Amino acid sequence: MEDTIKEIKSRVDIVNLINEYVPLTKGGKNYKGLCPFHKENTPSFMVSPELQIFKCFGCDKGGDSIRFVQEIEGLEFRQALEFLAGKAGVALKTSAFTRSPDEMKAKKILELNSLAAEYFQYILKNHKFGKKALAYLKDRDIKDAAIDIYKIGYAPNSWDGLIRFLLKRGYDISLIAASGLVVPKDNNKGFYDRFRGRLIIPLRNERGEVVGFSGRSLGASEPKYLNSPETLVFKKERFLYNLDLARSEIKKKKEAILVEGYFDAITPFQEGFKNVVASLGTSLTSGQLSLLKRFTDTLIIFYDTDTAGIEASKRALNLAQSAGMDVKVGILSDAFKDPDEAVRKDKMYFGKALESAASVYDFYFEYAKKRHNVKDALEKKKAADFLLPIISEITHTVHKAHYIKELADLLDVSEETIVQSLKKYGTNFGAGRSYSLEKKVSSPKISSQEYILALILSSPKELAQKTLYKLSSDDFTQEIANAVFVKLKDYLLSKERFLLRNFCLKLSPHENELVEKLHLMELPVLEFLEEDEAYLEKEIKKIFDIINKETLRRKMREVSYLLKQAEKRSDKRLVSELQEEFLRLSKKVTK
Ligand code: CTP
Ligand code: MN
Repeated sequence: MEDTIKEIKSRVDIVNLINEYVPLTKGGKNYKGLCPFHKENTPSFMVSPELQIFKCFGCDKGGDSIRFVQEIEGLEFRQALEFLAGKAGVALKTSAFTRSPDEMKAKKILELNSLAAEYFQYILKNHKFGKKALAYLKDRDIKDAAIDIYKIGYAPNSWDGLIRFLLKRGYDISLIAASGLVVPKDNNKGFYDRFRGRLIIPLRNERGEVVGFSGRSLGASEPKYLNSPETLVFKKERFLYNLDLARSEIKKKKEAILVEGYFDAITPFQEGFKNVVASLGTSLTSGQLSLLKRFTDTLIIFYDTDTAGIEASKRALNLAQSAGMDVKVGILSDAFKDPDEAVRKDKMYFGKALESAASVYDFYFEYAKKRHNVKDALEKKKAADFLLPIISEITHTVHKAHYIKELADLLDVSEETIVQSLKKYGTNFGAGRSYSLEKKVSSPKISSQEYILALILSSPKELAQKTLYKLSSDDFTQEIANAVFVKLKDYLLSKERFLLRNFCLKLSPHENELVEKLHLMELPVLEFLEEDEAYLEKEIKKIFDIINKETLRRKMREVSYLLKQAEKRSDKRLVSELQEEFLRLSKKVTK
């Protein structure tokens, strides 16, 4: 298996592969282009022919060619491998892919589920038992085409209709039980159908396989929706409804609409809003987000307009933002309870709400307005306490001014009052000294210690060696950078030829990650390298001086600490030695 993977990877060049999806241009040793995984106008997506890897400095996706195919085609590892094998003309031995017993069972369950879905749909469309459900769907404006696409069905009100059907088709009861479609009887003697007298919505995974079911009650019986239990093929934590149908549109639009319920996905989809997925209720999980992130980095949350929905939007918003996604929140008028109703009653309105779903700040204003009656003094304070820290984080000045005015209006105070109140929140600056390498690109900030390593990695051998000689382990206080420095010095000063790929083999995963990042990063200084190597040397000297001074200052702090200790002990000899040392260091710093 390992060998097969190696062979496939060696036959497919990552630059050619990615070029089929994203036009790449050469810049220095690497290629770059617009990231296919998130929205951007300036390229921060880099590909290294040398290491056969890609990395986006905007959304942080990265990896080898298999990873790329997984991400862009939305495939599992094994499927991506098959995909690449096809391109490379490598025959995959099936023995390389023997399935485990669980995998075989999972495959059987999928087959059985798909048959059950057919059974339910047959009842809905052709049997008199299905009439009521069919009328219900019509009443909800679900079109015939949608019934087919969604494989919607009806489970008759019978204890064993489905069981008998499946047994007749030759499935054994243990497999039927493993599918979750049946429930063991109390006396443990046999099973009965889980879904009875309910509208059936098959739950399809991102590949369109039926992994479970949800049954909606048509009358007053509780619960409103009854779902399959977790099985080998159904993990709620990682499931999004409608992703199979929405995925291509999500990619095209580069954003996904996230709703709560099944019908909030079905109705908009049938009316042409096709990039919609449902989280099945209000508690979005990080598993669902990581599934979605395979397709897009931008999310429009459109939850129900009731309080539960609003609270849930806030949670989902935070979760998605901390997962590095761009999030907008759609705001629907209270006249509609959810997207399903909005689309049915006023499709145009929904379209507009979608387009104007812009800023999370608008959402927070709406949120504060709904929670606090700002006519009341105490409530006014609460609304301010909620909104001020949010506004303080806005970096764009015009943008900030807009919301300052908005808040002033909302609370009926002067803008000056808001500006004054904002002062206590201050502005956050990242810790430590850092360099923004490229002004026009959203490239990452790195420390001087990392920067000099990046420069060394890009330097001709002699310059690299000269620089490494001048540096010492003391200069690298960051743990990973230090480890990389030590190994790099060791490697470069001994080896004849420097081969980055071989060097990487000597690194731990964390060290490797850093080196890959530094190698892929665009260093503006390198654009001039071909014309003028001296330019690079100058840059190295500049950074070297900065690092050197940082080290000296650190040493001075240590010496002054020791000095204080020595003074306390009245150790005169040590005191004078340390004073001399301190003087020597401070002269060096100011040189
Ligand atoms: N849900 C669930 N189990 C429940 C209730 C809700 O799985 N007992 C999930 C379903 O995915 C449902 C979603 O949460 O679609 C939203 O619930 P709710 O707003 O109560 O239902 P609606 O989608 O509005 O249902 P309907 O339009 O059919 O009334
Ligand atoms: Mn709802």
